[in-house]
Amino acid sequence: MRGARLFATLAFRIVLIYVALFALSAGALVAFTYWNTKRALNAETDQTIQAEIAGLSEQYQRQGLGGLTDVITARSMHASLGLYLLVGPLGHPLAGNLDAWPAVQPSGRRFVEFTYERRIGGMVERHPARGRVFNLVGGLRLLVARDVRERSDTERIFTTTLPWSVMLMLTLGLVGGALMSRNLLTRLDQINSTSREIMAGDLSRRLPLSRAGDEFDTLARNLNRMLDRIERLMKGMREVTDSVAHDLRSPLNRLRNRLEGALKHFAPGNPQESEIESAIAETDRLIATFDSLLLIAEAEAGAARSSMSQVDLSILAHNVCELYAPVAEEGGIALHMAPSQKVEVKGNSNLLSQALANLVDNAIKYTPPGGTVSIKAEDNGQGVRLIVADTGPGIAPEDRARVIERFVRLEASRHSPGTGLGLSLVAAVARLHEARLELSDNHPGLKASVIFA
Ligand SMILES: Nc1ncnc2c1ncn2[C@@H]1O[C@H](COP(=O)(O)OP(=O)(O)OP(=O)(O)O)[C@@H](O)[C@H]1O
Ligand SMILES: [Mg+2]
Repeated sequence: MRGARLFATLAFRIVLIYVALFALSAGALVAFTYWNTKRALNAETDQTIQAEIAGLSEQYQRQGLGGLTDVITARSMHASLGLYLLVGPLGHPLAGNLDAWPAVQPSGRRFVEFTYERRIGGMVERHPARGRVFNLVGGLRLLVARDVRERSDTERIFTTTLPWSVMLMLTLGLVGGALMSRNLLTRLDQINSTSREIMAGDLSRRLPLSRAGDEFDTLARNLNRMLDRIERLMKGMREVTDSVAHDLRSPLNRLRNRLEGALKHFAPGNPQESEIESAIAETDRLIATFDSLLLIAEAEAGAARSSMSQVDLSILAHNVCELYAPVAEEGGIALHMAPSQKVEVKGNSNLLSQALANLVDNAIKYTPPGGTVSIKAEDNGQGVRLIVADTGPGIAPEDRARVIERFVRLEASRHSPGTGLGLSLVAAVARLHEARLELSDNHPGLKASVIFA
């Protein structure tokens, strides 16, 4: 698993590209040098042979066969690399240092290549040779050649040693690449695991710094500074919401109590009574909006993460179902809960209850009388889901993303009371629990699912 990750890293891919480029250029360089060297060495040998043949043929013309055999015999004895063989019309050797006419293979322009046996201090070695055959009048044939053992040694360097060196370099490159990627992966893993902890709500965590002072440290330092700033902002925001909650919510409650008190002083049927009643209703809506906003802020701040416990969603759903039974009955809606086993998640039960209550509230509120609302908590093996489905008008697919935003209410719901914050809270609570809110079609109606990872 880790090995597969290693090969998938950017560092390894870069090393791989460089190693491949290097291998290609090294291979091309070796091939080019090989070809050029071989050509130069052959040209040198061919020139020497050519010169010798010219000299020998001149000798033959001037002094005849006797002169030629003398020179060949003399040269055969002294030359270390020169090879000569003069044969008669029937192939019998007349002079030279080769024992027998070799099995020659033509190469280049009438030049031939062959191997011959050379005696060195009692040992017989097979050596490669390159030469040229010269036909003389009278059916005589002269082979003038040179031992090219050195050339084939050089060639061997190109054909065996150098490719092996390139292979070795490739292997070293790959091993180096794997080591480099492993190093990078270790650093990245540290950053990733710390980031996950921070995402899980621990804003006080910081990325580790190494003593190397490399790019990763610069990145980690910048991210840490960013986290410091985010933490300060979050703290500031929490202070603001806390004080707003404290300083505004209590005066609102006092205002409501005073209005209620004032109501008692009116005689029944007083026209001002209904004015005060609507002022109370307005204050109630204000308090409700306020509570929703505070709850959303609480869910989004992630502070509730520290107070999470195992929550049984089927019990929670059952309680919400009981709570809304009277409202449903009043609205002529059949509200029922699908029976279920224990479905546990780690979470904040207050916020989860509030989120489910908002979904059930919507379902009952927007479904016309005669409809059905069903609540279900399920664990299908892949994950836990909390589902509220109704048979009402539903939400058009293009509006489903929009209704989750704060204060968004669809045109069709203008006549029913609400602030447009219900689904925002559900989404915030879902995010807090690493879950997501999904709105889909219930054919007919809306199916709202909170899907836990
Ligand atoms: N079950 C539903 N069926 C049809 N429309 C819905 C349903 N639930 C929500 N909506 C639409 O989505 C909008 C946003 O819902 P949301 O719960 O956020 O706000 P609200 O119900 O209008 O007000 P609040 O819940 O704050 O009292 C609603 O105004 C309504 O138009
Ligand atoms: Mg609502």
